[in-house]
Amino acid sequence: MDDITRPQADPIDTLPPGFRWGVATSSYQIEGAVAEDGRTPSIWDTFCRVPGAVSNGETGDVACDHYHRMPQDVALVAELGLDSYRFSVAWPRVQPGGRGPANPAGLAFYDRLVDELLGRGIDPWVTLYHWDLPQELEDAGGWPHRDTAHRFADYAELVFAALGDRVKTWTTLNEPWCSAMLGYAYGQHAPGRRSLGDGIAAAHHLLLGHGLAVRRLRAAAAEPIELGITVNLSTADPASDSAADRDAARAADGLGNRLYLDPLLRARYPQDVVADLAAEGVRIPVRDGDLATIATPIDVLGVNFYFGQLFSGVDERGRDRDDEGRPVRRAVRRDLPRTAMDWEIVPDSFTDLLVRLSRDYPGVPLVITENGAAFDDRPNPDGFVADDDRVAYLAEHLRAVARARQAGADVRGYFAWSLLDNFEWAYGYDKRFGIVRVDYDTQRRTPKRSAYWYRDTVRRVRGQR
Ligand code: FCB
Repeated sequence: MDDITRPQADPIDTLPPGFRWGVATSSYQIEGAVAEDGRTPSIWDTFCRVPGAVSNGETGDVACDHYHRMPQDVALVAELGLDSYRFSVAWPRVQPGGRGPANPAGLAFYDRLVDELLGRGIDPWVTLYHWDLPQELEDAGGWPHRDTAHRFADYAELVFAALGDRVKTWTTLNEPWCSAMLGYAYGQHAPGRRSLGDGIAAAHHLLLGHGLAVRRLRAAAAEPIELGITVNLSTADPASDSAADRDAARAADGLGNRLYLDPLLRARYPQDVVADLAAEGVRIPVRDGDLATIATPIDVLGVNFYFGQLFSGVDERGRDRDDEGRPVRRAVRRDLPRTAMDWEIVPDSFTDLLVRLSRDYPGVPLVITENGAAFDDRPNPDGFVADDDRVAYLAEHLRAVARARQAGADVRGYFAWSLLDNFEWAYGYDKRFGIVRVDYDTQRRTPKRSAYWYRDTVRRVRGQR
């Protein structure tokens, strides 16, 4: 039995001295200034104008006005005592139209941002693509079109030429599953297409673009750099031990996780997913050499985790086939606490996922490039939010990371999503993920209790108390 008189050590305190601590943001979600200094529209500018696509018809036109308030936002990161800041570069800002020469005015913004960070002792972590594809490239076919992968590699090299002397960590893509499936198969994100074939072609060309970019950056780098990709991963547990439930979980894990992890880290597509897709009449458009390119070695795998899921192979009426004769693959709602996104809070699944990654895909260091939660924040008259729910979420998930490390997972850092409340894609400004509150009327930033908690936790773990 545990000795209840002895205080239990917090697993968070086992995170090692070199552990990387940061916050993450992305360009379209915070920058605003969508028509300044030569920036051209991205697919999100277009999508936001589709009636009904985004809650309340909101757009990223102004967002957090970060483009004009960047030094103040960097100062916030510094005040929190964090060593790293993950941000993304807006492709249509630095290479308007998605091809051709760089736009010096657009690049200058990221140049200033990098210098501002370095001047405050914060390590910049660049994500090259966080969903803002230049609209012209979508008009030319978008990610389902193979040429977009080559355009991405050109763009990556152009950003690297400008920032590679100071930025040492580079992520090619953020969450290719979201770009591909939410954007092209399910129609919930820009560009809003609804075709499984397009979604799968997009997934392949995103991965190909990643591999091409990794090769180009590695060749261009004068000194060692850290290169990687960020994937959004989840757990898919079967609702019971029945064959139907286990198969539903297998299929969900395949389409959500292994379709990305296997080509990236094993140079092959998972055969069971290839078969599932074939049953839907969909083929992955792989050409000779693509898998070797996609599996070009990386130095770090970025993991974004928000929730886990349970799957059943039978519907509410007990049928294992839908009206079209397809196998049922249904996410089962559990009686668990949830965030404002209606996502289940399952920190143990985070541990399971990280341990599984280290077992099934050994050899690549992991960094948590996003984790966090939206809650219905209630500011006091001064704009302060006592977000104990977010503090609990972050603490439980950091404990989950620490436990995964104790079980052998090679996790080297953690970025909270997000520094600021921001434009949460199809949810507009309704969902707030920030550890710093943004008052969108005044653009005032007010750190929430979670920001102070994060600052104090990092300090304590580093032994600077
Ligand atoms: C991730 C995205 C990020 C943010 C969080 C809540 O899927 O990468 O931009 O929207 O979800």
